[in-house]
Order: sequence, then C-alpha cells, then structure tokens
Amino acid sequence: MERFLTIPDIEVFVVIGILFVFSTFEIIGGLLQNTKRSKQDWLIEIACFLSLALLIKPGIFFLSYVFGVFVFPGQEDVFSGRSLWIILPVYLLVDDLLQYWYHRMAHENPWLWKFHRVHHTAEEMGLLVSYRNAAMYFALMPNIWWIGFVLFLGGGKAVILGIMLKQLIVIGSHSTTKWDQVLYKYSFLHPLAWVIERFIITPATHFAHHGKSKKDGISDPNGNYGNMFFIWDQLFNTAIITRKYPNEFGIPDDPKDSWVSQWLYPLVKSDNPASELSGELRKSETTSLSPVELELEKGKYLWCTCGMSKTQPFCDGSHQGSKYKPLLFELKKKSKVKLCQCKLSKKGPFCDQSHLEVAQMPELSQSEVKKLIKT
Ligand code: FES
Repeated sequence: MERFLTIPDIEVFVVIGILFVFSTFEIIGGLLQNTKRSKQDWLIEIACFLSLALLIKPGIFFLSYVFGVFVFPGQEDVFSGRSLWIILPVYLLVDDLLQYWYHRMAHENPWLWKFHRVHHTAEEMGLLVSYRNAAMYFALMPNIWWIGFVLFLGGGKAVILGIMLKQLIVIGSHSTTKWDQVLYKYSFLHPLAWVIERFIITPATHFAHHGKSKKDGISDPNGNYGNMFFIWDQLFNTAIITRKYPNEFGIPDDPKDSWVSQWLYPLVKSDNPASELSGELRKSETTSLSPVELELEKGKYLWCTCGMSKTQPFCDGSHQGSKYKPLLFELKKKSKVKLCQCKLSKKGPFCDQSHLEVAQMPELSQSEVKKLIKT
C-alpha cells in the first residue's frame, strides 16, 4: 500500500477510474438514452467539474500551503513518518465533519444556499451531480482548505487514500447505479444493509436528500446532509433512513436560470427577476392572523412553517435557504379543515386559536408581531 501511494497523482487516476466504472454502469443501464438532462445541465456539470479540478482545488492547496508556512512555521511535514492508521481516520473524520456542517449551513443560510442551489436543480441523479456546485461554493468549502493544510503538514498519503475512499462513496451515492439495491432485495443481506446505511451515505439516503418534495414520503431535502459518513446526521438529528428512492428530483418552482449564472453567481446574476440568483427577489412574510377553512381531498399536504410561501397555508419551497422545513400531514379522507396561517399553532397544521393571543396584544407593532410569529 505504501508503495502504491507513492505513485505520482495516483488519486487522480483512481478517481477517474471510479468515474469510469460508475459511468459505464450508468450507460449500460440505458440511463443516458432516457436522460432528462438538458444541454444546460451538461454545461453546468462540465464547467463545475473542470473549474474545481483545474483552478479552485490547486489554488486552495497553494494558498493553504502559504498559510501554513506563515502561520505555523517549522510545522511543515510534521505528519510524515507518522502512522497512516492514525493520520487517515483523523483526516477523514475532520474532513467529513467540516463538510457536513458546511453542507447543512448551505441549506439553512440564504447567502450560502445560492451557491449550493445548483446542486439541487438537477432533475436527475448521476455521478456528475456530485461535482455540481457554484464556483463560489467550492472556493469557500472548508474541507478543501483542510486537505491543503494536511498536505502542508506532510499527510500526503492519508490525503491520497482518503480522497479515493471518499470519492468512491460520494460518487456512488449520486450515481444512478444504485449499488445498495441488492442489499435491500435479499433478506439475508438486511443485517449488512442495517450496518452500512448507518455508517456511510448510501444512494437511498442521499437520493432522499435530492428528492423534490417531502410529499412522496421518501424525500427530505432538509435532512441527510452527510457526504461520506452517515454518523453526523444521526448525531445531529438530521438523519432519515430509507430504502426507497424518490421518483422526482429538483427544486419546486425552478426558475431555470442560465448555466453561467448558476455556476458563477454572484459574478453573473440571473436575468429572471423571480429567481433567487437575480439579486432582485425579496422573500417576505405572507402569514396572516386568520386561519383558513378548506375542504381538502384525501391525500398528503405540506404545511408551510416558514411563513414565506406565496401559496399559504401550503409550502411552495420558499423556505429553502432557511432553517424552516415544511410539515407533512395526511388526510385519510376528504375533510373540512381549519389550517393555521399565523404559524403560532402548537397543533400545526391545524389552528389552535393561538392567533387570538397575538390579536389581543394591540400594543405590538406589525414588525413585532412578525418577529413573534418567526420565533
Ligand atoms: S414555503 Fe416551505 S415551509 Fe414555508
């Protein structure tokens, strides 16, 4: 293994090999013939992949090296000669924990969400989706800076091995190959599936993160933020374990921005004023102190909890880039319901008269009421 790791640029060849194997399976599976991918998707994915590999990663590695030399003089290569079995797990765990939180923040912070949104506008999974992020998202990605720093410390072998292992899982969890299906099919493999799905990211758990809507009972774009290890999601309460795959991917109400604006935002903005990437769209409160009475058909519904949906009381996806997520509820038969629109109900989605408490506080200004509603 030691000798193998000293082959120059071995991780590049191995990652290309992983991409080759998964793409062969995707092509044989007939997925390219049935693809929903548009020309725009291909352009985005190729631009993101090439800019990351040729410009952003080398640039970050160089800057982290310079940072190491100036901030930690004399520490260069302190890891060399240390056991790979210690450096590798430390490197991988720190790398993946940093990426978990960065990824989660990119879903919960409106500013970072705009750099990550392109990852979720893909309407079809595939290995190239793993590289689909705005240039700015990659430039700020803390674990790429961490890789550069570990290289400065002399952890080159751990980085090489770590990148190969991680890319195998990350590419595998985006690829339409769905390698985990076999584990769910045969009951004697279920104990193994139980362990694997709790330890690493599988296509099923990651596809659920990319699913378009929670309504399908499988997807939850506001969960499963892990990239290599699934332990973080379990530790920080964002885990949704599933063995099913969503049928629909993408984001609700996708304004179909140009590939250049999705790749280079905020340097290039969308010319669609209804898009978050235009710089013109302002999300605002759409809550109301009156509940709404509706007669709804039997089925599943998503109740808006963020108070910004333009289709109140239901979710329209406006919560993206915030900590809020919609609440799924199901009606077993056609029913008359009184749905909360103030977002204060403790029995949400149903009205529990909480709006009356606010209505009885005339001393509160409109903005104070809104603040109360948001807390
Ligand atoms: S728009 Fe989805 S929770 Fe408000």
